[in-house]
Amino acid sequence: MTAATGQRWTLRGAHTEYTVTVPAQGRWLELVAWGPHGVSDGPSPVAYDGPVPFLTAGDAAPIEYATDADRPFTGADLVIETVDGKRRVGFVHTDARIDADKRELAVDFADPVTGLRATVHYLVPDGTDVVQRWVELTNDGTAPLQVVRAGSGGFCVPTPHGALLSHQWGQWSQEFQLSHVELGHGTFGIGSSQGVPGHLHVPWLAVRDTADPAGPAWGMALAWTGSWEISAERDTGGLTRVRAGRQLVDGPLELAVGERLSLPVVTGAYSPDGLDGLAQVWHTHQRLLAGDRLTPRPVLYNSWEATYFAVEAESQLALARIAAELGVETFVVDDGWFVGRNDDTAGLGDWTPDPAKFPAGFDTFIAEVRALGLNFGLWVEPECVNPKSTLYAEHPDWVYVVDGRPLTPVRNQYLLDLGRPEVAEFVHSTVDGLLRRYDIDYLKWDFNRPRTEPGRPGGVGPLDLDGAHVANLHRIYERLRRDHPDVLIEACAGGGGRTDLAMAARADVFWPSDNTGPLDRLAIQYGFLHANAPHLLSSWVTDAPGLFDPRPRTLAFRFVLAMAGVLGIGADIRAWTPAERAEAADWIARYKEIRDVVTRGEVHLIGGPDQARCAVQYTAPDERRVVVLAWHTGRLDGAGLLPSRPVRLPLRGLDPAARYSDGDRHYSGSHLAAVGLPVRWSATHDADLIVLTRD
Ligand code: DGJ
Repeated sequence: MTAATGQRWTLRGAHTEYTVTVPAQGRWLELVAWGPHGVSDGPSPVAYDGPVPFLTAGDAAPIEYATDADRPFTGADLVIETVDGKRRVGFVHTDARIDADKRELAVDFADPVTGLRATVHYLVPDGTDVVQRWVELTNDGTAPLQVVRAGSGGFCVPTPHGALLSHQWGQWSQEFQLSHVELGHGTFGIGSSQGVPGHLHVPWLAVRDTADPAGPAWGMALAWTGSWEISAERDTGGLTRVRAGRQLVDGPLELAVGERLSLPVVTGAYSPDGLDGLAQVWHTHQRLLAGDRLTPRPVLYNSWEATYFAVEAESQLALARIAAELGVETFVVDDGWFVGRNDDTAGLGDWTPDPAKFPAGFDTFIAEVRALGLNFGLWVEPECVNPKSTLYAEHPDWVYVVDGRPLTPVRNQYLLDLGRPEVAEFVHSTVDGLLRRYDIDYLKWDFNRPRTEPGRPGGVGPLDLDGAHVANLHRIYERLRRDHPDVLIEACAGGGGRTDLAMAARADVFWPSDNTGPLDRLAIQYGFLHANAPHLLSSWVTDAPGLFDPRPRTLAFRFVLAMAGVLGIGADIRAWTPAERAEAADWIARYKEIRDVVTRGEVHLIGGPDQARCAVQYTAPDERRVVVLAWHTGRLDGAGLLPSRPVRLPLRGLDPAARYSDGDRHYSGSHLAAVGLPVRWSATHDADLIVLTRD
């Protein structure tokens, strides 16, 4: 049954709207406009009704979800193949529903030939300027179908002068490097085939017009914790179309008769205020995803860099005693606490505390940590196994394998096939068992290798291994949170390899990188905060010189840097001098005073890690307090050099008429915006925390 065409639906966000229509021929859904309230009242900035020589109308149309029949040449979101190898599924519009608040829309389509049905869903979460989109496919035909390409959606952005794309790339220990590309014409692509979002690229993209980089910004981010792809293509008419979705690394998905398949949510964001404004839109969204778990996080100590695998009760307690004196609230024992784990060659899979390392018992050890007034946290990596472990000896068939082919170890470990019910049960019961058995408040869940083998013993298939692994991972996180609501979970994958919107909805904090070297870390955090809210940013103060970036910076620099998100310490504090410990205690106390503003405040990213000025501003929701964290990124002035004039940090979003004070000096909001907050750098003063209160 076909439905009337020509209807328009407008979804309303807090400050934005998103309008779509099914044009007269009824084959697809098109974007009319996406931007501030009122943007749809006028000619569509993306519509095209000109000639299309050598193309089809669909190739130039701003289609929301295109099949290869709609866009045969310029990129489809969905490609379906029948059992006899035929493609070109083409839809007719059958129905649509929008809720009274204009925040939820579902538009139905059906293919008369195969019986495939597709519902294109939209949801604008209350109080946000994001639109969540996903597609549900149902095979109502009489024969199985194969999903060859499983895009989640296409976003159309008007870029008449050229597309300025911002993305984040990296590698292990250099994640979240923010980079900008001008796309005149052609395609730009990023993705991961690793079964995790990965270190190489982040499933996040921003698009602006090259003529107006400080103006409108459109963003897209995928909520998918497996392999993915995002591409942006600018056509000759100046429209940039971004496609995002799963990368089907295990081959086409099977859609049996009667089966329904939900594709991952892809979220779009809009801000009129460039990348800075777009970051705030993402932050608001992620804070809502956190719900009532959006609480200022405890200050933690993690012993990884202090003791590495040489974990044992005495040294851990020595660290815990000092941590407690400094004002730390949660003490986390990292890798190395379980049997057989003395280096990275053995032990993964055998999740029993090593009695040799905790001779009085693990319970007693935890009780001793808690007696210091600290909460207790533990590291796990339950999806992985070392060949040298009891688990592997008992269940060698549980790892991903291609029959007859050698396994590929990465960091001396293999990956468990979490899609198998018995493996998912093992992983869940292992972690759940630890949380029930021991007094644990904090879990760091690590993942240190990508998936290399696309198979299962016996070669059964075809299988969506990627989808099954991700689905069970999400389920386990959800169950653990439901059953242990007071336990905070930190998601880590050898640093920031597992950071996406689906994890932001299930984990409480991310470990974004193993690199805590001051200036490298600044760049990592700067990129991270463009896509992620501060409550998700775990950051440690570590020893100088650092492992990766030895460029010297003061203890103050390292503290102020770690305070930009969730403050932690990862240094060997046993070696800190009394003066360093006193300074640390002072910073921790100051962090506790400002962390509610860091957690809930409106963030402005000022300058950047490679610029003369570099700061993050957090304005409290009631605007009564403004916290500014600033770092000196340039050359340090030494003895005999003339001191430089102060750097000026232009603050944003303040009431121009309001007056602010830092305790000594008074400023108007308009002075802070136009002239800026002064900070003066020297060799001994290379970072600052300034709290302005409104008079
Ligand atoms: C990688 C993580 O990113 C580190 O913080 C640490 O937990 C190690 N794994 C432990 O093996």
